[in-house]
Amino acid sequence: MKKEVPISKAYHLINTGCVLLITSAHEDKKNVMTLAWQTPVSVKPVLVGIAVSKSHFTTQLIKGSREFTINIPGAELLEKVKKCGMFSGREVDKFREANLTPVSGKNVKVPLIDECIGHIECKVVNEHITGDHVFFVGEVIAAYAREDLFISTSWAEDASLLHHLGGKTYYTNGKIYTT
Ligand SMILES: Cc1cc2nc3c(=O)[nH]c(=O)nc-3n(C[C@H](O)[C@H](O)[C@H](O)COP(=O)(O)O)c2cc1C
Repeated sequence: MKKEVPISKAYHLINTGCVLLITSAHEDKKNVMTLAWQTPVSVKPVLVGIAVSKSHFTTQLIKGSREFTINIPGAELLEKVKKCGMFSGREVDKFREANLTPVSGKNVKVPLIDECIGHIECKVVNEHITGDHVFFVGEVIAAYAREDLFISTSWAEDASLLHHLGGKTYYTNGKIYTT
């Protein structure tokens, strides 16, 4: 037996990649948002894509600076991940609200998040309107990760990446988190 899944919820059937914290900055504003809709899209050059709602403050900042960073949170940051996915940077300074530490990147002006276990710096090379989202394609210009958690080309078992299953449910390393 298979049950009908409402079309509006069909995307929850797809297991998205790990949940990310995207940082953006333009002029005197900086911001962080939670994002699950992400994917690598090219090997040469190395390109990654993120789908960000047209209405988000993040979209405005990325369009202004043409840069963003991807920060990979471990499961211990779940409460901060939820906070950064709940409020808009138009109203609150989420770095301060979520107690996240902005640190300088190597090749971008956008700050990274110190508490995260991996980072990817991107320059926007393309953007596409996909319904009510903007799909930003970023060229990777720097990437680094905790040396004890990223071994050779793979995350180690102790790197508890977060995946969003929909609504209030997440999993990490096979454990389900219902929050
Ligand atoms: C687990 C989780 C995943 C999310 N994934 C996305 C996403 O892929 N794209 C998106 O536009 N918003 C996503 N959101 C919602 C944004 O994080 C949220 O609306 C945020 O407040 C936008 O912030 P901003 O206005 O400061 O940019 C997600 C939220 C959560 C909690």
